[in-house]
Amino acid sequence: MSDDLFDMTGKVVAITGGGRGLGREMAEAFASRGAKVAIASRKAEVCQQTASEINGELGAEVIGLGLHVGRWDQIEPFVNEVTEQLGPIDVLVNNAGSSPLYSTLTEVSEKLFDSVMAVNLKGPFRLSALVAEQMAERAETAGTGGSIINISSIASAEPSAAEVPYALAKSGLNTLTVAMAHMYGPSVRVNCIMPGPFLTDISQAWDMDAFNKMARNRIPLQRGGKPSEIVGAALYLASDASSYTTGSIIKVDGGMTWAPA
Ligand SMILES: NC(=O)c1ccc[n+]([C@@H]2O[C@H](COP(=O)([O-])OP(=O)(O)OC[C@H]3O[C@@H](n4cnc5c(N)ncnc54)[C@H](OP(=O)(O)O)[C@@H]3O)[C@@H](O)[C@H]2O)c1
Repeated sequence: MSDDLFDMTGKVVAITGGGRGLGREMAEAFASRGAKVAIASRKAEVCQQTASEINGELGAEVIGLGLHVGRWDQIEPFVNEVTEQLGPIDVLVNNAGSSPLYSTLTEVSEKLFDSVMAVNLKGPFRLSALVAEQMAERAETAGTGGSIINISSIASAEPSAAEVPYALAKSGLNTLTVAMAHMYGPSVRVNCIMPGPFLTDISQAWDMDAFNKMARNRIPLQRGGKPSEIVGAALYLASDASSYTTGSIIKVDGGMTWAPA
């Protein structure tokens, strides 16, 4: 397989939640293969700082923008801003996510439930719909296509008691992936990465002794993922390397989940 298959030269990539964690790793990987990248989260200044660090390191074109992905009215202006600054979006990565802690299900407030749905499902729904439609229109006029990558979670397949609203939202994201692959093919491919436990900021709240013990027993690769280990699947799905792949949900979880994706 030629490395050209993973070339992203001139492609415009938008990544939500790209200022840190898995989003930042993907932004760096796309930029290092020639893409122009927009990263966005609630903290515009963090995204701008990350963008300037990647630009300094790689001489790439990365911009940082502010976006609360759970706010419907911010989504269209975000798409317009990226298009104005970098060009029409070729690759969208719905990466922003969060799973706030709660004690029992009855303690889950309407506010918590709605905010988890908003960030993990409602925002990706609206953003994907707008971007996919533009990608499909461009495919008609310019012959280009597009790729949308949703970042779900193994919680969607094996939900634990501690993350029920999050698991519901992420399983909705899996469903959105399959539905949109059917709606927007053949010009737009829509796929999903289902990560297992990755050692990003999220893991700072974990009891690492308990985690490592669990990992030795339950994860075939016996450890959590390094953030950089998300990149292979992301580059595959963003690039021509996956030209016959759509509607797929790819587990990147060290083998932890038994359920087929
Ligand atoms: N790490 C894991 O173990 C793991 C496992 C399974 C799935 N995942 C999924 O992988 C994705 C990335 O996770 P991560 O570990 O990199 O998380 P992270 O380090 O906590 O980063 C989350 C990112 O999402 C952004 N974000 C949160 N709420 C947002 C909102 N309302 N609007 C816009 N951006 C928002 C954050 O930026 P701001 O705070 O600046 O908004 C941040 O950039 C998430 O979807 C997560 O659910 C992670």
